Amino acid sequence: MALPEPPRPRVPARQFGDLQLDIYLDGLEGRIPKYPVDFASLERKAAETLPWWVHSYVAGGCGDEYTQRLNVSAFQKYGIVPRMLNGAYERDLSVELMGIDLQTPLLMSPVGVIGLCAQDFHGDLHVAEAAARTGVPMIASTLTMDPMEAVAARFGETPGFFQLYTPRDRDLAASLVHRAEQAGFRAIVVTLDTWTPGWRPRDLNAASFPQLRGYCLENYFTDETFLRRLAASPREDRDAAAREWMRIWGQSLRWDDLDWLRSLTELPIALKGICHPDDARRALDHGMDAIYCSNHGGRQANGGLAAIDLLPDVVAAAGDMPVIFDSGVRSGSDLAKALAMGATAVGVGRPYAYALAVGGTDGVVHQLGAILAELDLLMAIDGYPSIEALRRAGVRRA
Ligand SMILES: Cc1cc2nc3c(=O)[nH]c(=O)nc-3n(C[C@H](O)[C@H](O)[C@H](O)COP(=O)(O)O)c2cc1C
Repeated sequence: MALPEPPRPRVPARQFGDLQLDIYLDGLEGRIPKYPVDFASLERKAAETLPWWVHSYVAGGCGDEYTQRLNVSAFQKYGIVPRMLNGAYERDLSVELMGIDLQTPLLMSPVGVIGLCAQDFHGDLHVAEAAARTGVPMIASTLTMDPMEAVAARFGETPGFFQLYTPRDRDLAASLVHRAEQAGFRAIVVTLDTWTPGWRPRDLNAASFPQLRGYCLENYFTDETFLRRLAASPREDRDAAAREWMRIWGQSLRWDDLDWLRSLTELPIALKGICHPDDARRALDHGMDAIYCSNHGGRQANGGLAAIDLLPDVVAAAGDMPVIFDSGVRSGSDLAKALAMGATAVGVGRPYAYALAVGGTDGVVHQLGAILAELDLLMAIDGYPSIEALRRAGVRRA
């Protein structure tokens, strides 16, 4: 008689926190990690590695960058309260987002110049490979150095999301969404706060805007709908193509436009840039599938509050709708706090951009692993065996 199947393990045999022991054991053999595990060291190394104009674009924010700094420092006001004797020997970091099962709650936020952060300027492809290796989804920007089809082809088993900058030309918007569907992306993230660039002194003082030089526009330059607008192909006249892109790239959407966007696709849609509870409620009324609470890492409007301070009200208004969060997350403990404050999944922007600059695909895999190891060990030590347990416990204000 056949023996019954052994029960499926509830959590993977290997825990994310095991990276710590790997590193110490390597140290016994005289090997130290090739890339830093912390954000501050990574930021310093990336500043030495990136071309100045790419570094300016990535590191810079709006105005005097007050909101950008506040996004990060505001996390210090909140803390997770440890619980003991709670059986967190094994942790389950998996979550469900918009009907998609994810191994962890970590996401790579869309970064429009990620292509340029790699030394070969194919950063989008390297990040997609890192997504395949880690199970951490990439939210691919509309602004890429390689077309979305080539990016999606490297996701492996990891789901990928497509971020849409809705162009003024509705046919082009429809074409981009349909291409994303065809390419196998699992959801569309519509960014609402960037129909025009914010006021960024670092780039303004150097008169540098990479897209106007023709970088990161491959999704447009491979789109028949966009190409029909041009007198000459981008290969013949890149300047004219980039100027045409500038004319049409950003539409200031209104609530009614959401019904049109909804009609374009069956894929789940998340709205990125929602920071007010009333806007979250209206998104629900318009049939959206997720809220993405973010202030664009402080790059778009300065003088605003830290995004993390706005998250709890947005979560309360979103009801059963999942809430993605980003802006200012620099470590596993920041990630834990955002989850405990109600986020379903949490994105990082600059941390993986700098990791790519410093170490290519391996660098991104290492940095994502480091963030997840810190989250996992925090959950282990503070007594939270699952993301749901963390969420139920919430945070305490210092
Ligand atoms: C260099 C750079 C480019 C970005 N490009 C995009 C983009 O193309 N689309 C988008 O929705 N958000 C974009 N963002 C915003 C990120 O998705 C995210 O909201 C932000 O980086 C989170 O803040 P953090 O960098 O503090 O983690 C960009 C951010 C950076 C730093």
